[in-house]
Amino acid sequence: MKNVLVINYSQTGQLSDVSAQVVVPLRAAGHSVHVETLVPETPFPWPWPIVDFVDAFPECVQLDAPPLNPLSISADRQFDLVILTYQVWYLAPALPMTAFLKSPEGKRLIHGKPVITLVACRNMWLSAQETMKQLIAEAGGLLRDHLVFTDQGHPLATFITTPRWVLTGKRNRFFGLPPAGVAPEEIRGASRFGRALADALNCDAEKSAAPMLTGLRAATVNPRLALSERAAHRAFKVWSKLIRFFGKRGQWRRRPMLLVFALYLITLVLTVVPLSLLLQWVFSPLLKPRLERLKAELELPSGSQEFNLEKYAQ
Ligand SMILES: Cc1cc2nc3c(=O)[nH]c(=O)nc-3n(C[C@H](O)[C@H](O)[C@H](O)COP(=O)(O)O)c2cc1C
Repeated sequence: MKNVLVINYSQTGQLSDVSAQVVVPLRAAGHSVHVETLVPETPFPWPWPIVDFVDAFPECVQLDAPPLNPLSISADRQFDLVILTYQVWYLAPALPMTAFLKSPEGKRLIHGKPVITLVACRNMWLSAQETMKQLIAEAGGLLRDHLVFTDQGHPLATFITTPRWVLTGKRNRFFGLPPAGVAPEEIRGASRFGRALADALNCDAEKSAAPMLTGLRAATVNPRLALSERAAHRAFKVWSKLIRFFGKRGQWRRRPMLLVFALYLITLVLTVVPLSLLLQWVFSPLLKPRLERLKAELELPSGSQEFNLEKYAQ
């Protein structure tokens, strides 16, 4: 029997539903799983009032997270494996996960431990995962696998459906666009990772350096989105520093800059993103080898291959 720690935080329960699907088969196989839900000292709102939503941007990008309430477990408790589940906020890990990974308790819990990351977000998780890798390494954790769940619907449709969900709480079908969030069958399908992980833990695979969850379509990257995301992340770093220069989170004096940023963001989504997708499509024969290399690299360590899907399907 192995001891597994799952770190969780979810505003709508979507991410908790995904992690629950992974946990059930682990417990059924006799492993002990502690799910620790992060609780920010001051809760984040849901749905998000527009001003609070934009005002959270600089601190998300600069990894300046407000504190959490104390954890329910001792930071010295020993686990065989840690699963970090998180959402993406502004191309960075959501603030509660950033707070956990930067806290002395979080660092102690993952120091020297194999770690699996699990993300559920709209579809832009690459920069956030780079940050997760860095924070995990700084804490002395050993990243072994990465599992990705993204919103249903075309990436362009989710530019409308996900913000609508976050700002109004409504996630239903809308003007022919699919519902917001991860599709229910994708969420149910997360149990395949729990079954495969239970097998891996049974034969001490967490002690080796290799990924444990390959062949299960763990992470699929659209390399075209990756290029737009990289450009946006670079711009976000500059904007977030600039806005913080005008004031702290919640202060009125930075609101005019936030408004300028919001207008920039809308313009970016309406012009640069579709234009960059169009240009990449036009030049796709030329870009193909580069995009294929990028895809393979970004899908590591668990990958998008499917050779184990049948074995671990329900
Ligand atoms: C402030 C904020 C910023 C977000 N930024 C992104 C983003 O940059 N990329 C992305 O793919 N999803 C983004 N999302 C969507 C979330 O990753 C997530 O899918 C959604 O908040 C639901 O998660 P939950 O109910 O499990 O908390 C954002 C959500 C919020 C609240």
